[in-house]
Amino acid sequence: MTVSMRVAGVAGVEAIRAQFPALERSHQGNRVAYFDGPGGTQVPRAVVDAMADYLYHHNANTHWAYPTSVETDALIEQARVAVGDLLNAAPAEIAFGLNMTTLTFHLARALGRDWSAGDEVVVTELEHHGNIAPWQALVRELGLKLRVLPLVVKDGTLDLSGLPGLFGPRTRLLAIGAASNALGTVTDVAAACVMARQAGVLSFVDAVHAAPHVLMDVRAIGCDFLACSAYKFYGPHIGILYGRRERIEALDVPRLLPAPDTAPERLETGTQNHEGIIGAGAAVDFLAGVGHGPTRRARLASAFSELHQRSGALLSRLWEGLAREGRVRLYGPPPDAPRTPTIAFTVQGLSAEAVARRLAERGVFLSHGDFYAATVVERLGVAEEGLVRAGCACYTTSEEIDRLLAGVRALLRS
Ligand SMILES: Cc1ncc(COP(=O)(O)O)c(C=O)c1O
Repeated sequence: MTVSMRVAGVAGVEAIRAQFPALERSHQGNRVAYFDGPGGTQVPRAVVDAMADYLYHHNANTHWAYPTSVETDALIEQARVAVGDLLNAAPAEIAFGLNMTTLTFHLARALGRDWSAGDEVVVTELEHHGNIAPWQALVRELGLKLRVLPLVVKDGTLDLSGLPGLFGPRTRLLAIGAASNALGTVTDVAAACVMARQAGVLSFVDAVHAAPHVLMDVRAIGCDFLACSAYKFYGPHIGILYGRRERIEALDVPRLLPAPDTAPERLETGTQNHEGIIGAGAAVDFLAGVGHGPTRRARLASAFSELHQRSGALLSRLWEGLAREGRVRLYGPPPDAPRTPTIAFTVQGLSAEAVARRLAERGVFLSHGDFYAATVVERLGVAEEGLVRAGCACYTTSEEIDRLLAGVRALLRS
């Protein structure tokens, strides 16, 4: 990134875009505009280079005495430190795995070994089912009971004042999302975790949708566990599980007896995706490289703050543009509420899939359906036709927003 492409030390959008080869793609004569970040963002060159460099020059299994194995250990540790900086956690509190869903099933199974029939877990209706199914599995396996905080349908939020009433003497865990991948709602998980702690309840935060947009701070949130996925923040397809160190050490986790039994490796089953782990670390460095400051955490804070400003402006432009169209219905909190730049909408008379297909013809790529937030679309009454979802990322421009809006206007006219 050249200095001239930085304003007040922060990378401008063109400097950011120059790092993403995917943005050079055209579709049917149009430059592709990727609004599919909530499903998975594009990947900058530095992340792919770090993964390729590992596979070409350092590839080995861990914990042996020869150089490539020693280098593998060091590179994995560096990635844990980087991801720790992203979440404000210690490297020993960062475990990797296939994806958030698999890690959460694994965690639920381990926690469940300590629970018994009649114990309770509190979830919410705003969750991606990756934060419901792992707990639901314990309903069948253990006789666990799920208690559910309802969605406030009118604005797609949660009313956290209802939480303490759901906690009882048998409540073991609160499983709550930091942001909705369907509606963009940001939930005050720090407040929710305080309530959980006061009731003697563990907390698990699903930060998969939040992590690309809000700088996570597990210490400030006060959660016991938090999961996210690097492929949502410009990294490869790999999941991350933070656990408070003493919690990781106390877990009765399914594991091989000869494998390391110390935090965080006791959470990681079998040979890991080394290149993915290294790519996750490189993605954190990519994000830190957008900002400036004396430490990586400070650079991340500067980058997230700047990206928040920019994406807020894009979000308002998109929301207001769509709101002007009579046949478009918007869901979720308005732009000035705590939210990510992810907008869900429907177009009267058209299925979400039809809208996405027609916009794709113009090089505007966005996702449709329920995004596994199946309870949300049911409660909104759009399970049949689905939602169209447009997410802004660090490489999104206002020109792309205008192309999306022009695409919607064109299909309304046709
Ligand atoms: C909010 C949220 N939670 C959980 C998941 C599942 O993550 P993974 O694909 O890493 O299992 C997603 C994926 O889209 C998500 O957006």
